[in-house]
Amino acid sequence: MLALMKLLSLFLLIVAVAPPAAVDGQLKVGFYSQSCPLAESLVRQTVVSAYFNNSGVAAGLIRMFFHDCFVRGCDGSVLLDSTSSNLAEKDAPPNNPSLHGFEVIDAAKSAIEARCPNTVSCADIIAFAARDSSALTGNIYYAIPSGRRDGNISLFFDALANLPSPLSNASTLIKAFAAKNLTADELVTLSGAHSIGVSHCSSFRNRIYNFSSTSETDPTLSAPYAARLRSVCPFNSSLSGNTTVPMDVFSPTELDNAYYVVLQLALGLFTSDQALLTQSSLRTAVNDNAGNGAEWAAKFARAMVKMGNTEVKTGQQGEIRKNCHVVNKASTLWNQGAEKEEVEELVANM
Ligand code: HEM
Ligand SMILES: *[C@@H]1O[C@H](CO)[C@@H](O)[C@H](O)[C@H]1NC(C)=O
Ligand SMILES: *[C@@H]1O[C@H](CO)[C@@H](O)[C@H](O)[C@H]1NC(C)=O
Ligand SMILES: *[C@@H]1O[C@H](CO)[C@@H](O)[C@H](O)[C@H]1NC(C)=O
Ligand SMILES: *[C@@H]1O[C@H](CO)[C@@H](O)[C@H](O)[C@H]1NC(C)=O
Ligand SMILES: *[C@@H]1O[C@H](CO)[C@@H](O)[C@H](O)[C@H]1NC(C)=O
Ligand SMILES: *[C@@H]1O[C@H](CO)[C@@H](O)[C@H](O)[C@H]1NC(C)=O
Ligand SMILES: *[C@@H]1O[C@H](CO)[C@@H](O)[C@H](O)[C@H]1NC(C)=O
Repeated sequence: MLALMKLLSLFLLIVAVAPPAAVDGQLKVGFYSQSCPLAESLVRQTVVSAYFNNSGVAAGLIRMFFHDCFVRGCDGSVLLDSTSSNLAEKDAPPNNPSLHGFEVIDAAKSAIEARCPNTVSCADIIAFAARDSSALTGNIYYAIPSGRRDGNISLFFDALANLPSPLSNASTLIKAFAAKNLTADELVTLSGAHSIGVSHCSSFRNRIYNFSSTSETDPTLSAPYAARLRSVCPFNSSLSGNTTVPMDVFSPTELDNAYYVVLQLALGLFTSDQALLTQSSLRTAVNDNAGNGAEWAAKFARAMVKMGNTEVKTGQQGEIRKNCHVVNKASTLWNQGAEKEEVEELVANM
């Protein structure tokens, strides 16, 4: 009887410490609390130290989360390197050369692998890093559900097809977000991320040179601002390949609702930013966000969580990548190993 109870309690213990399974494609807050309790704090420590070295990484990491989620879902596909036979998302124009912060993900991943190997997905590390970046730059705190699994496919053309271009008009932006089950209001809310970070000249050159047959610059862009941008970004694009400008002239390093004031003052950098004023419902949302920073911050947190649910792989789907840059070749090796054992067993029984 005692033995049975011992056995039973051992069984219960095992049940209690077993990692919670993500049922029905659901992510959950604290997914790694049993399997890798330090996962979220290791990511936070890595992001904090990278941020204190170079505060610009926070914007890179928030954008990385968006670019991961919009292409094949939040599955870490944006982290996969191109191979000799495949050009990856990472090398598509929306990502290359502007997307950055990969070294922070790598550092977090290696800190985690040292503690709990093969447990925490690269996709979740991006989600945690974006959350921590929002806290650092905007004092925006939220719990982010986890349990995402990593994908094994990353295609150049998927990035081109799913990531909206800065030349997009309002209806194109609304469609791109609707394709990810995000509303027009969430489009406006998430665009507030453009209150931090920088842009290369190439993303808005269309507005400052040869805009149309009647106007050299985009008339919906503040004229003095256009003149300033022209002085920073020369017409000859090969002379300004690496030049960047802050996207929010008021508070370029603070994740806040100043982006919406920027838009109201015709200081939005991209055609796609300006486009948020061209439809009345979007414009109403812009004005609401401009007028209420706390409400916008709460909406931003909710929208980041929702974006983080996009087409996620859970449970037995996908894999936990060992190295965020490459798919697990180990799974193939493991299969070969199994085959080898089977062969040996067969030979032994002959
Ligand atoms: C609505 C459609 C969007 C378009 C067309 C767009 C486009 C762009 C472009 C062209 C850049 C500048 C890249 C460069 O030239 O260096 C940029 C930067 C950025 N975007 Fe977006 N974006 C959009 C939505 C979002 C969303 C939803 C987020 C995150 C929630 C986001 C976060 C960022 C951040 C943080 C940066 C600054 C990156 C840095 O400093 O390196 N964007 N975006
Ligand atoms: C610190 O930031 C610089 C860029 O500003 C980067 O080149 C360097 O690798 C970073 N160092 C660490 C330890 O993160
Ligand atoms: C928006 O852009 C798309 C794609 O370029 C185009 O087909 C559409 O006509 C544009 N819509 C408006 C209202 O300009
Ligand atoms: C959007 O929601 C529908 C219905 O719930 C679902 O079938 C679809 O997979 C979702 N799409 C994305 C991109 O999340
Ligand atoms: C504008 O475009 C025309 C025709 O494409 C070109 O000849 C001219 O040099 C351009 N000028 C500037 C300042 O962009
Ligand atoms: C642009 O600059 C590059 C590098 O200096 C130069 O080789 C090229 O001729 C320039 N192009 C034009 C159109 O001025
Ligand atoms: C841009 O940066 C790259 C890499 O750092 C460098 O090789 C190139 O010369 C730079 N281009 C310009 C125009 O400064
Ligand atoms: C990706 O993984 C799926 C199963 O998760 C597998 O069927 C497929 O062959 C893999 N593709 C590549 C390119 O590794």
